[in-house]
Amino acid sequence: MDKMKIAVIGSAGRLGAALVRDYRDKYDVSGFNHAQLDLSNLDEARETLRAMNFDALINTAAFTNVDLCETERDRAFLINAEAPGLLAKICTDKNAKLIHFSTDYVFDGEKRAPYTEEDEANPISVYGASKLAGEQNVLATDSRHLVVRVSWVFGPDRPSFVDGIIKRAQENEEVDAIADKFSTPSYTLDIAEMVGRILNAWSRRAPAPDGLAAGRFQGILHFANAGECTWQEYGQWALDRCHDAAVPLKAKTVGASKLKDMTNWVARRPVYSVLCTAKYAKFTGIPPRTWREAVADYITRFYSKK
Ligand SMILES: NC(=O)c1ccc[n+]([C@@H]2O[C@H](COP(=O)([O-])OP(=O)(O)OC[C@H]3O[C@@H](n4cnc5c(N)ncnc54)[C@H](OP(=O)(O)O)[C@@H]3O)[C@@H](O)[C@H]2O)c1
Repeated sequence: MDKMKIAVIGSAGRLGAALVRDYRDKYDVSGFNHAQLDLSNLDEARETLRAMNFDALINTAAFTNVDLCETERDRAFLINAEAPGLLAKICTDKNAKLIHFSTDYVFDGEKRAPYTEEDEANPISVYGASKLAGEQNVLATDSRHLVVRVSWVFGPDRPSFVDGIIKRAQENEEVDAIADKFSTPSYTLDIAEMVGRILNAWSRRAPAPDGLAAGRFQGILHFANAGECTWQEYGQWALDRCHDAAVPLKAKTVGASKLKDMTNWVARRPVYSVLCTAKYAKFTGIPPRTWREAVADYITRFYSKK
């Protein structure tokens, strides 16, 4: 039986690289890094993708520098909003599915309970506004495509907060992290697994072994590991797991800093942007594992000296 054909845009990014690695043996995968497919050149992107044959296109590429987006608004909207609309059109024309990644930063952070897919988005940064416009362009083109919002993405393919705090703790006696901003880490390997379930459900050739209803996966879906935390809690858990894994550290505890102390940040960030994953858990019957388990697994696999 032919393998499902998948194209991944952003294949050198934190998430894209993880997806390509995980899917290499399961599907017929083509990955495009920034140099191979530049979403800011819509004509070229159109030409490249129209010439290809795929069943599903996964867009993990984005202009993700939240502060730079504030000063490069046009570029942010071109890459994060206009390009996803084009991808949606190309997919619809090919009768292929699009999975487009978005962010918890579409919310203003004023809520104090996890955001559901039905909650109104109200971005407070150019990055968030451009990502929201991207979601809208995708779903206005074809409501059968899928937008997956994730938060605080971490994994082995590109350093993120967790790697930064470990590095700082290896080099300094004291480290701190923000203790009044809340969200949930999302492990790229867990995202790959959950997208794999959706791809299997969509596969026209092989019925999903777990009997998932393919038609459910359209519109907006939230995915993150379970639970919520501040950056300080996230960092402390990571250092504690490093301690268990015999990773040498100078700093053992993560001190508390405040969001208002981040005077070098240009963009505003939501204070609370935890994503509710109840819809995903209901559709699949498989709730995401906790962020603590995911971070512990990451440190055991990629940092452990034992
Ligand atoms: N990172 C997070 O914490 C986070 C949180 C919530 C949502 N998300 C979303 O999750 C998705 C994946 O994020 P990530 O963490 O994997 O980000 P990432 O590591 O920054 O990867 C993004 C990739 O997009 C590429 N890219 C940038 N501009 C491009 C363009 N014009 N054309 C083609 N490729 C381009 C980048 O290439 P270069 O590096 O060469 O520019 C990079 O490889 C994104 O949609 C992001 O908005 C991320």
